[in-house]
Amino acid sequence: ETAEQHAAFEARIARGDKIEPGDWMPAEYRRQLIRMISQHAHSEVVGMLPEGEWISSAPSLRRKLILMAKVQDEAGHGQYLYHAAETLGVDRRELVDALLAGRAKYSSIFNYPTRNWADVGMIGWLVDGAAIRNQTMLAGCSYGPYSRAMVRICSEETFHHKQGKEMIVAYARGSSEQRVMAQDALNRWWWPSVMMLGPHDADSPNSGALSKWGVKLKSNDAVRQEFLNEHVPELLEAGLSIPDPDLHRNEAGDWTHGPIDWSEFWAIIRGERGLGRERLATRQAAHDDGAWVRAAMLTYSERQRAQAAD
Ligand code: ACO
Repeated sequence: ETAEQHAAFEARIARGDKIEPGDWMPAEYRRQLIRMISQHAHSEVVGMLPEGEWISSAPSLRRKLILMAKVQDEAGHGQYLYHAAETLGVDRRELVDALLAGRAKYSSIFNYPTRNWADVGMIGWLVDGAAIRNQTMLAGCSYGPYSRAMVRICSEETFHHKQGKEMIVAYARGSSEQRVMAQDALNRWWWPSVMMLGPHDADSPNSGALSKWGVKLKSNDAVRQEFLNEHVPELLEAGLSIPDPDLHRNEAGDWTHGPIDWSEFWAIIRGERGLGRERLATRQAAHDDGAWVRAAMLTYSERQRAQAAD
């Protein structure tokens, strides 16, 4: 890698060019993107599990159809993102192996259990709400395949967010049992949602390179601030209380949270707390069950190739 190559690359980023798969890029830019896109893909795939558990217990046909569509969307997002990672020269099998062996990270949020039906709504409202804030920013990122995948994914996430909000607002206005269920879900999902946007900027080792190269256009704390400013007033308007005694609006009008328990965040990521082991065991079982599909597809593609060669 020469200084000229780096300078030309950085000039392209400064002009707002999209970097495409065959283009020259610094090895560190490629490494960072593979890391981030693959973690994102794994998050979409593991993200099917907490909500998927509730499909057979949905309280109405309408809610069941919405939830099935949502979980299928997450599978599709995982597919786009694995493809986007593959454009950087990595093999999907390596990525999946790293996930199943516990070597790869995926979002902390999916290691929390879903204990009642309102958790499904709260995930849509808060978790997808946080994800949209982060991913709308990534839709503007410098790597073409990732930014284009984000455009499609964000429009589907918007539907997920709306259905979650609609569900929780209905329960918050509903019977006393429904109100208790919605509040209980908020009590458990609030802090994990605030944390999922990543460590504070001062503790975010990857942010420097990612912002220099136009991948992250906003910092972790800036995205978290947007998430708070959007969701705090809406949750309060729904009549729910947010489990943070220090939450307040500062002079600039921004909602400010109390101290975050980062020890819980890292313990969840390392699998020392939460459902990390169960999630990976479930993915491993699904992977094993799908072996015949992969074998059939491989045989089919080999036959097609042999026929084309005849
Ligand atoms: N869960 C698990 N790991 C996390 C989380 C989280 N919520 N937040 C940060 N980390 C990890 C980072 O991946 C990084 O690990 P690594 O260096 O071992 O790879 C480490 O903590 C330090 O964090 P940062 O330096 O801040 O990492 P980064 O700059 O990559 O920022 C962020 C983290 C904001 C999550 C970024 O990677 C990103 O935007 N990713 C794409 C979006 C995404 O993955 N969303 C997943 C959830 S949304 C959904 O699936 C519905």
